[in-house]
Amino acid sequence: MERFFNPKSVAVVGASSTRGKVGNSVLVNLIECGFKGKIIPINPKADQIEGLTAYPNVTAAVQDVGSIDLVIVTVPARAVLAVAQECARQKIKNLIVITAGFKEVGKAGAELERQLVEIARTSGMNLLGPNCLGMMDTHTPINASFAQDFPEPGEIAFISQSGALGTAVLDWAISQKIGLSKFVSLGNKAGLNEADFIEAAAQDPNTKVILCYIENVVDGPRFMEVARKASARKPVIIFKAGTSEAGARAASSHTGALAGNDRTYETVFKQSGVLRVRRMEDLFSLALVFLSQPLPRGNRVTIVTNAGGPGIIAADAVESLGLEMSRFTKETIESMRPLLPAESNLLNPVDVIGDAKADRYKIALEHVAEDPNVDGIVVLLTPQAVTEPKETAETILEVHKKAPDKPIVAAFMGGKSVAEGASLLRSAGIPCYSFAEPAVEAFSYLSTYARLRERQGHKPLPELEVERDRINEIISEAAADRRHILFGSEGAEILTLMGVNSAPTKLAKSAEEAVEIAKEIGFPVVMKLAAPKVLHKTDLGGVKLNIKTESEVFQAFHEIIENLHYHLPGTQAYGVEVQKMDRPGRECIIGMTRDLQFGPLLMFGLGGIYVNLLKDVSFRVVHGLDLADLHEMVQETKAYKLLKGIRGEKPGDINAIVDTLAKVAILSRDFPQINEIDINPLFVWEDGVSAVDIKITLREVGKA
Ligand code: COA
Repeated sequence: MERFFNPKSVAVVGASSTRGKVGNSVLVNLIECGFKGKIIPINPKADQIEGLTAYPNVTAAVQDVGSIDLVIVTVPARAVLAVAQECARQKIKNLIVITAGFKEVGKAGAELERQLVEIARTSGMNLLGPNCLGMMDTHTPINASFAQDFPEPGEIAFISQSGALGTAVLDWAISQKIGLSKFVSLGNKAGLNEADFIEAAAQDPNTKVILCYIENVVDGPRFMEVARKASARKPVIIFKAGTSEAGARAASSHTGALAGNDRTYETVFKQSGVLRVRRMEDLFSLALVFLSQPLPRGNRVTIVTNAGGPGIIAADAVESLGLEMSRFTKETIESMRPLLPAESNLLNPVDVIGDAKADRYKIALEHVAEDPNVDGIVVLLTPQAVTEPKETAETILEVHKKAPDKPIVAAFMGGKSVAEGASLLRSAGIPCYSFAEPAVEAFSYLSTYARLRERQGHKPLPELEVERDRINEIISEAAADRRHILFGSEGAEILTLMGVNSAPTKLAKSAEEAVEIAKEIGFPVVMKLAAPKVLHKTDLGGVKLNIKTESEVFQAFHEIIENLHYHLPGTQAYGVEVQKMDRPGRECIIGMTRDLQFGPLLMFGLGGIYVNLLKDVSFRVVHGLDLADLHEMVQETKAYKLLKGIRGEKPGDINAIVDTLAKVAILSRDFPQINEIDINPLFVWEDGVSAVDIKITLREVGKA
């Protein structure tokens, strides 16, 4: 990609003398941006365009000037393939196709695009587009786009899937005097996609922060790998459009139903260290925070305010964002006490009260900045008659200079009277917002990213020695039987083979057989209808608990089959499963569903019958899973609080849960025939766990 952003020679195929045409704009942009390499217009009808020698085609140009590093195509769609083929013959390595009229216009366009990709692929050509605005690198400098303006050099790379939005953002960035390092309009992403440019920006010494606007990800696993590596070096901040769940799959499991499309992206971003923003405007404001502020050592925030209300609002935001309020040392409090009015609040939030001038802010800020329990400061200001916004801003800058390792963000609330102070802060690189919450939120992104960076090493899922042949056999038998849902007994056997404790379960075809099985596994037992088609067995009397004698087993078998025939006449049962009744435990759920883009998704949460109602679940993508993720996914749920034990309860065996999660992840990684897994409930005891109800579904077989 080096020559892509830093070519020695660039040709524009379709360069035109007619002002206003795309082929003219691209050429003029290349000339006007100060590009130092050779610019070669290509047009069969002209000898000269914009004062440069024009060539009739790429071949003629290569013959005359030698190699060309980058070709930008601005001819109509019908002429693009021939140009691409010619470029391939001339060993051109980088191609930008600005032309529209491909996949985005339907079937014929999609076919054209397929052929274009094929040419690029077979000739090893980097292809950006088609249907894109082009790209820019302000440090080269090169403006290989038909955008109207060229931003100042800066340290922010902006990668956009939408060209139109890209131009709007460029225009805005220029008006705000925000510099960029690179700008890339991804277009249809037929060749190069977001991952390629995140990777390039991560390696670019001129880029400190990477921003992306995307609507989807082309290659899930590669995106995750690239994003993980990139975010270990610099912040990757993404706005992803299309968060509605309209496209969510039809799922036959709890896990599938809970893992919506947006939730998957949320998981992917978190797991790969990407910071996700929910508002477009936050992309750049956050980039500026990262450019100007140091990363905090922890998540303990101090609020300094001249008004109680905003202090409370900020403290609420601290809590809801999972941050902590700093607790000052005694020395900090005692040394502030004689210097501030008696009515001030010396604890956090520090309230220097309404009549505070800059000097009181100075006292408070200097003291808290020195406190070892303070990781970052949020300064709030509301304009009263005596407030000094400009002087307070100067004070903040002074304190920031003295304590450069602690991030400071501000919220100057109000309009005209605070404008000068706010703009002083902003131009000196201190983020200043109009309200308290975004200021706290900015700190929370800094602290999240700091935590991500601290993550050391990557412990992948291990290989596991298991009886693969037996697991494959169980799956093949079900497939041969045209069952895509395994019996609970089959699920239990698979999990047992994986080393997960599960209550012994066997399928009985007759009441007599059920009695024999019950005797073998020991009383009490649970009996469950074995009819994979029936989803809610309990509702139709298909489950009987706590069966203690042989005669009860006999009777239960017949009752279960009769209940089925009564409620769902004509439905075939394979028999009744007899399961050892486990001692009760806390009920959790572990599940797996497959995402088309990212592969197996693992789920953990509060189990039982209220799973879908409470939705207390967390997810991780199995691809590239770090063992540390498994602990985190348990800790993220409210169930974790229950598992730790409340009101004197003994804690549940969290290590056994993590071990089961790892095994389910390995199972889904190593057995692609498995489509979904639900273990609900997973009983969690003080000493171990038991998979009580197991549903495993297969893919690519006829429906049972
Ligand atoms: N080699 C070199 N030049 C060629 C050529 C070829 N094979 N075929 C045509 N040309 C020349 C034309 O003669 C013309 O030059 P001229 O002005 O000197 O006559 C120039 O290339 C452009 O061709 P033209 O037919 O005038 O097309 P156009 O400028 O009206 O439109 C596009 C071309 C690419 C701009 C248009 O097809 C398009 O895709 N527009 C949308 C772009 C877009 O929105 N992209 C996505 C942004 S997010």
